[in-house]
Amino acid sequence: MKKSVLAIDGPAGAGKSTVARLVAEKLGYVYIDTGAMYRAVAWKVLRTGQPATDENIVKVAQDIDVRLEYRNGSLRVEADGVDVTDRIRTPEVTGIVSQVARLQPVREKMVLLQRKMAENGAVVMDGRDIASKVLPDADVKVFLTASIEERATRRWREMKEKGYEVSMEELKKEIAARDKMDTEREVSPLVRVPEAVLLDTTGQTIDEVVASVLALCR
Ligand code: DC
Repeated sequence: MKKSVLAIDGPAGAGKSTVARLVAEKLGYVYIDTGAMYRAVAWKVLRTGQPATDENIVKVAQDIDVRLEYRNGSLRVEADGVDVTDRIRTPEVTGIVSQVARLQPVREKMVLLQRKMAENGAVVMDGRDIASKVLPDADVKVFLTASIEERATRRWREMKEKGYEVSMEELKKEIAARDKMDTEREVSPLVRVPEAVLLDTTGQTIDEVVASVLALCR
């Protein structure tokens, strides 16, 4: 099979990263988690101790050296040489990341890096604007979604595993707020491009969704 480029977009908690990672593993491709890049910027903004104003965020984004490294099959996220893989998944980072991702100068820098990472093909990239903006020529485009209840339940389980106690209602509200910000922002909003295959993962197992995506690659 030709070395393809797969673009997987969708809202928070739809299962994109789990599915994209497994699909990449099965195909022997590289998985690129673009959300992790915006999260790394958000992490650094918090670390500066300055308020998350647009101006401060842009300043941080201009300076930051974000890298996605693969070691023994797992993804490691580095910000200025620091391993931030786990630190970018805290509720504090999640709380400001949509603010970071809506800024044009931040996106411009990240999109260039993302395109560079995909230039040799054999990649599965997930995010919000992959098919619409980052890789419009991707060979396979998928839009993954699931009901808000299911997405909140998945996040709740994930957070619990990491030791965070959060209420389901709070999570639903937070996911809805993030969806709203991601879909209504002016720059590269979350959209399903017409040619993307819509996969609703509500009630489906991870294996079923992975199989559906792999079937699209054949
Ligand atoms: O997928 P995630 O939850 O890790 O994404 C973090 C945030 O970054 C989310 O609010 C949407 C945003 N994002 C984006 O705007 N564009 C991308 N390509 C990936 C993520």
